[in-house]
Amino acid sequence: MARALGVSALALLVCGYGVGEASCACANTSSAAALDLLLGEYDRAAPPAPLVRVRLALDVRHAAVDDAHAAMRLLADFHMSWQDSRITWNASEWGCEWALTSVERLWRPDVALVNAAAARAPVEPLRARVTSAGAVSWVDRLDVAIPISMDLGDWPRDIQTGVFKFASREHTADEIDITIDLDDVQYATVFESGAWEIVTLGGAALASQATEAGARRVATWSLALRRRAPALAAGVHVAAAAALLLLLAAAIMPPDVRVPVAAAAAFTLAIWLEGAVWQVGGGSCPRAVHLLGALCGVSGAGAAAAALVARVARLAAPPPARLRPLLLAASRLAVLSPPPEVSLGSEGECGTWVAAARLLDAALLAVLALALLVILCLYL
Ligand SMILES: *[C@@H]1O[C@H](CO)[C@@H](O)[C@H](O)[C@H]1NC(C)=O
Ligand SMILES: *[C@@H]1O[C@H](CO)[C@@H](O)[C@H](O)[C@H]1NC(C)=O
Repeated sequence: MARALGVSALALLVCGYGVGEASCACANTSSAAALDLLLGEYDRAAPPAPLVRVRLALDVRHAAVDDAHAAMRLLADFHMSWQDSRITWNASEWGCEWALTSVERLWRPDVALVNAAAARAPVEPLRARVTSAGAVSWVDRLDVAIPISMDLGDWPRDIQTGVFKFASREHTADEIDITIDLDDVQYATVFESGAWEIVTLGGAALASQATEAGARRVATWSLALRRRAPALAAGVHVAAAAALLLLLAAAIMPPDVRVPVAAAAAFTLAIWLEGAVWQVGGGSCPRAVHLLGALCGVSGAGAAAAALVARVARLAAPPPARLRPLLLAASRLAVLSPPPEVSLGSEGECGTWVAAARLLDAALLAVLALALLVILCLYL
């Protein structure tokens, strides 16, 4: 009597959390041996019934978009449960309700992702849970990537959608019927730390697909992800606002000052665009776009250089004492190649500035030509 009480107390301790129901695991060596015996006579190649109903649930753990490959990667727990009446036992005889066993020992439905391949080699499968009533449930650890058509209209706050389709690989709807278990989906395990956040996981739907062998049931989940790039979004606004301000400022300035300000706006945007192209396309952005972006930057720099030269040439004030020797040397150099039009005073301080401007012009043009050469060598 005391021993029986002790056993029940132990059983209560082991099965303590299943209040009201006997949800006790087969941890007992004798029940494990009994399960081994049961599975020893089991034919894992044969399905448990002519028509097996499989319930599916998807529990997303992580999802992200690979910009460079236009693919959506999903790490998820794919829950499958079905009934196998060959694995049943008398719970009161065995003293336990359920057991964990290697899924390799059981028949399992060949339901898998059909619109893509696994991203990585499959890991050691988790064990299946079987109950005394013959209910089998198993979780497949998915690591898959599907191709998506990228829609970058709202970049950098764009939303990308991927559709994951699951179906039996070889069996028709008459042999394996699938249903989606909407109650069983848990969102709590999604950890958001990457560059993408899940907007919706849903649109879980069932459809029939005709194949050569017959109609096949297909379960689909659609997953929408939004890019999380607050710095990029802020960058877009800052760049656009800066360019707008510069253009407004240029509009109210006299024509000769308008050129450099407008050039500065163009240059700012060209630099920003070139940076953005790297962000969007990863390494896969067409080289032609990089080439055009770089040429755009050089054009802006050229306009700014011309404006600077014009500004220096128009200086009327005498040069500061410290700059004078330098400017004199510059004007002597510039005189070696006399300007075709000597409209501005050829003598005195103004002439010095003009000569300096000519020299500056030549130097800047040389730098720009060098930049062009480098760009052409890089991209052609
Ligand atoms: C299970 O075993 C107990 C005790 O051996 C027995 O009383 C009961 O009828 C059995 N249940 C079934 C469904 O066979
Ligand atoms: C172990 O299983 C046997 C039957 O297989 C049962 O008689 C025994 O009480 C179980 N022991 C425990 C501790 O549950």
